Amino acid sequence: MINEKLQEAFNDQINKEFYSEYLYLAMKVYFQELNLQGFVNWFDVQVQEERAHAIGMVDYLNNRGGKVELRAIEKPVVEGSTPLEIFEQVLKHEEFVTLRINHVMDVAEEVKDRAAMHLLDWYLKEQVEEEATAGGVLATLRLIGDDKKALLMLDKDLAARTFVAPVIG
Ligand code: FEO
Repeated sequence: MINEKLQEAFNDQINKEFYSEYLYLAMKVYFQELNLQGFVNWFDVQVQEERAHAIGMVDYLNNRGGKVELRAIEKPVVEGSTPLEIFEQVLKHEEFVTLRINHVMDVAEEVKDRAAMHLLDWYLKEQVEEEATAGGVLATLRLIGDDKKALLMLDKDLAARTFVAPVIG
């Protein structure tokens, strides 16, 4: 069984992971409209990762005898209108997700659920990578500025990203 307060924190986080999937799908569409296929691929991988993060928590909560509650997913809002602004939002969003997973960890610590803490440790490590990946692209975009040729070169690089299903936990 799982503590009710922790179950609530997991259900809230499941919703945030699905929202992340939805947000990155909206960003993928933005790049599809620009025909920047490398960026499209980057966001496609991101969409799959977020879904894996959400399902990982759904399965975990189930395995622990908890009650999964799937909630309405908010309409995603893409704030920026340039690739640079989009990646500023990606980094900001990942920092927010890290804060929220830290919150779930706080609850797990409070109710002394060591198994959940172990799982959340994986998610926190994943967040370090997520922030670094988004921050890396953002740094390159800052260097690129208005150079269209350099933007197309970055697009080529981003086409190489592949989705590897994570082994969660
Ligand atoms: Fe599931 Fe990008 O955090």
